[in-house]
Amino acid sequence: MNAKNPSCPDTFVPISKHCLMKLYGEIAFDLYTYLPGEQHLKEPVLLMRRNCLISKIQEIITDSGLEQFFIKKEDLPNFHHFIENFIYMLIEDQSIPLAEKSQIIYKCASNVIRDIFADPRSGENLKRAEDITSNIIRFALSNDASIPSLLQLSSHDYYTFTHCLNVAVFSVGMWQQIYPGEKEGLHEFALGCILHDIGKSRIDEVILNKPGALTSEEFSIIKKHPRYGYELMADSVPAPALDVILHHHEKHSGRGYPNGLKGDQISELAKIAAIADVYDALTTRRAYAAARDPFKAMLTMKEEMVGHFEQEKFIFFVHLLSGKKKE
Ligand SMILES: [Fe+2]
Ligand SMILES: [Fe+2]
Repeated sequence: MNAKNPSCPDTFVPISKHCLMKLYGEIAFDLYTYLPGEQHLKEPVLLMRRNCLISKIQEIITDSGLEQFFIKKEDLPNFHHFIENFIYMLIEDQSIPLAEKSQIIYKCASNVIRDIFADPRSGENLKRAEDITSNIIRFALSNDASIPSLLQLSSHDYYTFTHCLNVAVFSVGMWQQIYPGEKEGLHEFALGCILHDIGKSRIDEVILNKPGALTSEEFSIIKKHPRYGYELMADSVPAPALDVILHHHEKHSGRGYPNGLKGDQISELAKIAAIADVYDALTTRRAYAAARDPFKAMLTMKEEMVGHFEQEKFIFFVHLLSGKKKE
């Protein structure tokens, strides 16, 4: 994203020129700019209205040397939805810095997950979730620094949709540690991680966001989300993805839910997702708990959550995180 003019109001969000020049078709957002010599103005001026062909403005941008572009904040979801179709090109574009690609992918993916939580039965939303999963994997495979770069963007505030994305990013990172070079099955696994908490879309937000300890009745409602997710997605996603959705709360000790599976009764994929899930929950701020820093979260998982995870996978996870720190 380009730097923002200090006088530009917060109702506008800067967007990248690199990114803008790669788009084609009719834009789904109003585009604003500061004309040369007018940076002192309080607000940027309208350059192009939505539903216009962006190719018309790209020539003007090239000729005029315009550098700063903005959209209104309320148009961000439209902007991210629009650029979903271009992500594969942006990933391959060597002129776009890695950090900028990460931001685009992270924001587009959060947007897709929010939409699929709002309407999990929508075929269009599922197709978007599959596409963004492919793009996350493409990005992860394109550069060793991609996963650490995406992980740096993870918000410390908990939202179900960014949590699902973070779990997918951690899980793809762990997959790369455990199965280096293996691509078969990665898409189904990552899709399952993206959708792992989709069953929460059927649970009352009052319970999900309750700022205190849950009653045993409320906890038993929360514990239904893996089954709800399985039911919602049973006819729509492949078996490995369903397995992650249904079994990401199983524990190595057999004391997890919904099936109380033990040790190797739990699939390799569900074991990986379970580690990523707990780590992300511990390192984000929740209604009932402050965010732990990464080291404390790992310590909590190692010392206070004995029996939750398979030790071997946990060690891979520690390697992933230490690799991240070295970046
Ligand atoms: Fe969950
Ligand atoms: Fe989760």
